[in-house]
Amino acid sequence: MENLLKKIDYNNIPNHVAIIMDGNGRWAEKRGKSRKFGHEKGIYSTIDTLNACKELSIPYITLYVFSHENWNRPKKEIDELIKLLYKNLKNYLEVIHKRNIRIIIIGELSKFSEKIKNDLVFFMKKTKNNKSGTLTLALSYSAKEEIIRATKNIAKKIHSGESKIKDIDYNFFQNHLYTKNFPDVDLIIRTSGEKRISNFLLWQSAYAELYFTDTLWPDFRKKDFIEAIINYQKRKRRFGNI
Ligand code: IPE
Ligand code: IPE
Ligand code: MG
Repeated sequence: MENLLKKIDYNNIPNHVAIIMDGNGRWAEKRGKSRKFGHEKGIYSTIDTLNACKELSIPYITLYVFSHENWNRPKKEIDELIKLLYKNLKNYLEVIHKRNIRIIIIGELSKFSEKIKNDLVFFMKKTKNNKSGTLTLALSYSAKEEIIRATKNIAKKIHSGESKIKDIDYNFFQNHLYTKNFPDVDLIIRTSGEKRISNFLLWQSAYAELYFTDTLWPDFRKKDFIEAIINYQKRKRRFGNI
């Protein structure tokens, strides 16, 4: 680990890292356990990864926790996942707050129960002035839904005369997304060997570097995260230039 840390270029730390934490179910199934067991183990990977982000002072980290499409899973798994997520977020709220990290939750919050929704809003309110970093949790999130939502809000403004069609540019549109004022995603990490984006941050990651690893999420640790960052730092980002 010490040798690995030495390879990091602290002048080239990504501003915004987004992670598709995938493979909990397969990890558990390989061990003859329930999928729930895999989700529980995945929490340790999340904690380890957030600790690594803190050490590297990564300003924005966005985690794909539950997708819009995940509502199609059996009700039992959905209930287990939401319970687990809610319990852990509550447990770690103070730690996150002490680290001076702001929590942002993006997605269709209206799909959750009144109690959970109110608490999620409270977590955001409590941490809203924290300045050391932003931890964003994508919950019931769909990038296509986010883009449609932004389009509708813009259409309303045009309709009411508050904005004009000529006002619509990249910045204007970006300001109607959940991730308003966030920097673009520099690096997307996906575990479990799947090589797809699964409706995550389509607009924000238009120029992101993609890093795929076969490691299943419950096996992912700080070392794996550092390896992803080192891999990212070796890339030449051209943004269309030469
Ligand atoms: C990721 O693991 C967690 C969520 C999608 C909520 P999966 O549950 O997708 O695990 P696999 O991909 O079936 O192994
Ligand atoms: C993406 O993983 C969503 C999250 C990690 C929360 P999935 O396992 O749901 O994605 P697909 O079905 O493999 O595309
Ligand atoms: Mg999966």
